[in-house]
Amino acid sequence: MNIKVAIITVSDRSSRGERADLSGPEIKKWAESHAYSVTAETVVPDELEAIKNELVRLSDAGTDLVVTTGGTGFAPRDVTPEATRAVIEREAPGFAEAMRFNSLKITPHAMLSRAVSGIRKKTLIINLPGSPKAVRENLAFIEKAIPHAVDLLNSQVTDCGSSS
Ligand code: MTE
Repeated sequence: MNIKVAIITVSDRSSRGERADLSGPEIKKWAESHAYSVTAETVVPDELEAIKNELVRLSDAGTDLVVTTGGTGFAPRDVTPEATRAVIEREAPGFAEAMRFNSLKITPHAMLSRAVSGIRKKTLIINLPGSPKAVRENLAFIEKAIPHAVDLLNSQVTDCGSSS
């Protein structure tokens, strides 16, 4: 299935060029390993309006899946979940629930991720934590459900039928 994926790295330091963005490329590697098309890769600072603008721009460009990395924790400037909540039309909490549930088996710090997942029109938006390790682990927990999610968002199918 050809899924169009856009990647947003949320990081003050990476946006200023002070730290290499290792997490965005990690998402790209994951997407390409599934033969998905990466249509955009951007880096924005931890600013509510900047994140919201990128989420809206990329979702409304016909992207199937927008994945963010970073800014989901408790630091004062961590506002990715708030930006995401402001632009989604429907929540899709199962992705965030699956990530926290499974990540807790790896680290108690999984409780500190406030990641949100939701739907804007036909686009699924998923927040991931900021570290490359967390990106890899969390994508592995949710990847099996992504094709069917994208399928449902783009089809006239009204239920899950016989798919599992
Ligand atoms: N989830 C997994 N699977 N692996 C991790 O290493 N790190 C946690 C958590 N979720 C982690 C994880 C940590 S240390 C934090 S602070 C939160 O995600 C939020 O990360 P963020 O502020 O970089 O978004």
